[in-house]
Amino acid sequence: MRIVSGMRPTGRLHLGHYVGVLKNWVELQKNNECYFFVADWHALSTSYEDKLNLKRLSRELVKDWLSAGVEANSNVIFIQSHIKEHSELYLLLNMITPLGWLERNPTYKDQLEQIKNKDIHTAGFLTYPVLQTADIILYDAEAVPIGEDQKPHLEIAREIVRRFHHLYDKKEEPIFKEPKEILSPTPRLLGLDGKKMSKSYNNAIYLSDTKDEVWQKLRGAVTDPQRVKKTDPGNPEVCLIYDYHKAFSPDEVVKKVEEGCRTAGIGCVECKKWCAASIEEVLEPMRQRRASLDDEMVEDIIQKGEKRAKEEAAKKMEAVNRAIFEVEG
Ligand code: TRP
Ligand code: SF4
Repeated sequence: MRIVSGMRPTGRLHLGHYVGVLKNWVELQKNNECYFFVADWHALSTSYEDKLNLKRLSRELVKDWLSAGVEANSNVIFIQSHIKEHSELYLLLNMITPLGWLERNPTYKDQLEQIKNKDIHTAGFLTYPVLQTADIILYDAEAVPIGEDQKPHLEIAREIVRRFHHLYDKKEEPIFKEPKEILSPTPRLLGLDGKKMSKSYNNAIYLSDTKDEVWQKLRGAVTDPQRVKKTDPGNPEVCLIYDYHKAFSPDEVVKKVEEGCRTAGIGCVECKKWCAASIEEVLEPMRQRRASLDDEMVEDIIQKGEKRAKEEAAKKMEAVNRAIFEVEG
C-alpha cells in the first residue's frame, strides 16, 4: 500500500508520540511504500507568532524519526514546504470545500476552546484539514496512520475527494484515491502527572532523554494514590506506571506487576525500576542510532526525499490542472 503521514515540527518527540504514531510508522514501513513528511506549514497554522526556527526544528524532527528506526532508504522523507504542489492543490481544494464542513469539524471546535493563549481565528487554521487533504491525496495515499484526534480530518479528506470527482472528474479512472485511516493499536500514553503527555505540561519522557533523566522522571511519577505504604495493596488499573508497562514491558512482566501490585508483593520503586528497564530497551537503540547521525546526513536524506516527492507531486498536479482548466462544459 501507498502510505502518507506527517508530523508538525513543534519540538522534541516524546514517548507519547512514539507509542501513538511513530511505532506504527516503523511497523508499516516494512511492507508498504511510505511517504513521511514534516508538516511545517501546518505548524504555522497555530504558531505563526511564535518565531519558531522551523528549519532547525524540521531537521531535528527527522533526526528523531531516524533515531526511532524510520528507514532512510526505503521511505520518502521530506519537508512539506519544499514541495510547492501542496500549496497549489490546497488552493484549488479550498475553492470547492464548503465552509460548513470545516466549521463543524470537532477537532477544530475542541481546539478553539482549548487554545486560549494564541489567536487561532485565522483562515489558515480553519482550513487546516484542506491542507492535510492535499498532503495525502497528492501522493495517492491509500492509508494514513494517525492519532484518534485526526479521524475527522480523514473524513473531510474523503468528502473533498468525492466532491472533486463529482465536479471535475467525469472519466472512469478517478484522479484521487479516498484515503483510509490506520489508528494506532495502543491507547494514548499519559504524562507522568496523569495528564495528557505534552511539552507544555512538563510531564513527558523524550526519545532523546538520557537513562538517568528517564529514571528521575519515572521516580517522581504519580502512582495509585490509595497505595500509601508498601504494605497497602494497590490497583494497577488506576496507575499510569501500569499503562507504561503495558506499552513497553513483555507480557510476563506485565502479569508480575499486576499480581504484585494487587497483593502488595512488590513496592512501587521496584515496579518503576522494571518499567525503566523496559523503556530503556526501546530508548537505548535510539540513542545509538542518534549518535551515528549528523546534520549533513539528515540534510541529504531530506534532499533525496524532496526529489522523489516532487516528481510524484508534479505529475499529479498536471492531471488535476487538466481536469479543472480543460473541463468540457
Ligand atoms: N495534522 C497532523 C497532526 O497534527 C499532521 C499532518 C499534517 C498529517 N498533514 C498530514 C498527518 C497528512 C497525516 C497525513 O498530527
Ligand atoms: Fe503503580 Fe506499580 Fe505501584 Fe502498582 S506497584 S501502584 S502499578 S507503581
